[in-house]
Formats: sequence, structure tokens, C-alpha cells
Amino acid sequence: MSLLIRNARLLDGSLVDLLADDHRWTRIGTDLAADGATEIDAEGRLATAPLVDCHLHLDASLTAGKPRWNESGTLLEGIDVWGELKPSLTEQDVYERAREIVRWSVAQGTLFIRAHADVSGENDAMVRGLLRLRDDVAELCTVQVTAFPQDGIFQRDGDEQRLEHAIRLGVDCVGGIPHYEPTSELGLLEVHRVFDLAKQYSRRIDVHCDETDDPNSRFLEVMADDTVKHAMAGRVTASHCTAMGSYEPYYSSKLHGFLRRSGINVVVNPFANSLIQGRLDAYPKRRGFAQLKELLAAGVNVSLGNDVVMDPWYSLGRADMVEAASLALHFTYMSGREEIPEMLRCATERGARTLGVEDEYGLEEGKPADLVVYDAPNALEVLRLHPPRRWVIRRGRVVAETTPARTTLLGEPVTFSP
Ligand code: FE2
Repeated sequence: MSLLIRNARLLDGSLVDLLADDHRWTRIGTDLAADGATEIDAEGRLATAPLVDCHLHLDASLTAGKPRWNESGTLLEGIDVWGELKPSLTEQDVYERAREIVRWSVAQGTLFIRAHADVSGENDAMVRGLLRLRDDVAELCTVQVTAFPQDGIFQRDGDEQRLEHAIRLGVDCVGGIPHYEPTSELGLLEVHRVFDLAKQYSRRIDVHCDETDDPNSRFLEVMADDTVKHAMAGRVTASHCTAMGSYEPYYSSKLHGFLRRSGINVVVNPFANSLIQGRLDAYPKRRGFAQLKELLAAGVNVSLGNDVVMDPWYSLGRADMVEAASLALHFTYMSGREEIPEMLRCATERGARTLGVEDEYGLEEGKPADLVVYDAPNALEVLRLHPPRRWVIRRGRVVAETTPARTTLLGEPVTFSP
């Protein structure tokens, strides 16, 4: 089965044809001929390797309003609501909700997802449900599962052991939440424990790190130091890192170089953090975002996640990485001419680096034939219009297709383009 995509526009502006044979890209060039291949004419639309969602709490998705709504909209009430719901969840319920979000994601061009399964408390339905999902959807979407101790590992007897139990069940990454431990000392202990477990079981690390407005929350430097000490460059991710939005310049500049040398990845999650951070400030209010622009300039790999979709923390969302990139662009001032396409790279190839899937990712001959074609000609138009994903291709097969809506005003078409 061969598939030929004609006239696809790449991020660098060049126009190419891409030929997929036997699930892989076999030729990328111009004026390709392929007898018997199914042909799609992209007509100059932008095409990239798939979108990558580096941070998604799939176990909580689609639970908004259960067992009650988060009336205040705060992070802490969200954790309380989730804590009330958690004991009643079943593996099948987690599986079905997560599967629905994977369907939404794939339909919008996201073919790689790093999910988080809450492993705090006695109910292990979340991790079991997501592990089953990961294996069942593998042909359609690559899912990694992180064992995430939402309540910390030192606040309740047994939670440290439950984290290790989840690792034994077969998760891909060890998670943590050091800033949520009762004291800084316990937070430090938690970071070190996460690294020890990851080393012992040969897993990657993805820690919720400094997701607070407290400028004294500085577990990120500890993670970077442990990354160096354990020789885990590239295999460690710090997610959220919103305290960085409150770090003063001198400490920030020291931290940037340290992060680059450690090879740690940073993930920005704009939806929940745009609503949660700075909320308790009097005006002027802080934005509470990791320093995405400055980290990129310093050579740190930064990528993006949806984080939350219709859950106790965020009742909105539809799992679209283009919307995530667009929102992050606004909160991190990434509006320069070269910065706009870089935001799309944060949602695509930089995400692949974070997940460590570069070997099976990219528009190169020999790589798996995965592709997303946007109904727009370039990154600026993608991030301006959030257009439908015209075609989504997985392993050389069209798996999703969207026919764009057509708007008319008094009978005349409106295109939202000059
Ligand atoms: Fe998160």
C-alpha cells in the first residue's frame, strides 16, 4: 500500500512530495512518480511531523462536574474534588474516557502523548486503565504513561510504595510533585527518591516541578543536579515550572545555563496555569509561566502539553495542541517573526525530543510515515486561525480527515484571510 502526498509545504517554506511505502517514508522530493499509489494533493498547505502532547492527565479527563464542580476554579479545590472522585473510579471508566481523548487528539494531528496516571491512594484503577489504553491504541497513537503521585509520597503511609508498585506494573516514566510535600526537606527527599527509582527500573522521569507562584520553590535546580549526577541527560523532564515566572533575573540566568548543561527538558502547560497562577496576587498579577523564550535562547529544550481537558482543574479544553501553542505564545511573548514557527516546533519536534522518540519521528526517508496537514499555508496562519487538520496520516495511512467549514455573509464567502 503506497501513499503519495503532493505539494506539501514544510515549515521552512519549501514545497515537497512525500511517498510512503510499507508504513515508512521512502522518498521525499519534488515531482515524485509512484504508479498505483493513492494520491493526495495538499495544494501548498503546511505539513509537519505529528503534534506531540507532552503532558496530559488522561485519567482525569472528562470528569468535570463529578462528583461536584470546582466552584472556585483554584488548583487546591481541584485537587480536593479529584480526591473525592478518585476512590470510585474503575479501570474501565478510566480507559473509556482516556480513549475518547486519544480519539480527539489523533483527529487533530496529535500522534504522541505522554499521559499521567495518579498513583496516590489505594485505588490503582488509573494506572491500570492507562496502561491498557497505551497498549490498545499503539497502532494509532504512541502513548507513554507516567506514574504521578498527585498527593506526594511522604504525606500518607503507603504512597511511596504505591509509586514503586506502579513502576513495576510497567509505566514509562517516574513522576513526582516535590513542591506539594509538607516541607522543603521532604520535597528534596522526594526528588532524590524519584531519581533512585528511575535508575533502578530504567525509566524516564517526568516530575511536576515548582507548579506554584512561590519564588522560593527551587526544586528544578535539584532535578538538574540529579540529572547530571545520574547521567540521565535527555531522559528527564520538569513539567509546569511556573515558579520560574517569579524568579529574579540573577537567579534565572544562573539557572538557564545549569538547565542547558544538564540536558533536562521543560514542559509548559498553558491552559490550567494561565488560570491558576497569579490568582491569589493583588494587582499587578504575575503571569506564572516558565521562562519559555529565555530557556529556548539558552539552548534548553521546551515543549508543550494540554495538561487538562474537562477535568476538576479545567472544565474547558478539547485536546488541541495548536490551541495550546497559541495560548503559550501569548503568555510567553513568543510573537516575533521567527518565534511563531518556533512555537509550532515546541508542539511538534521539540515534543518528540522530550518523549525521546526521535528515532521514530520526523519527515525523513526511513522514518515511520506520520504526518499532519493543516488547512493553512504556514505556522503564522496555523497559530492565528487554529485551522482544521485536513489530513492526519499514521504509518502511511490516512486515519483522520476534516472537511473545513465554509462561512458566508449575505451570500458571500468569508475566509478570515486578506
Ligand atoms: Fe500536570
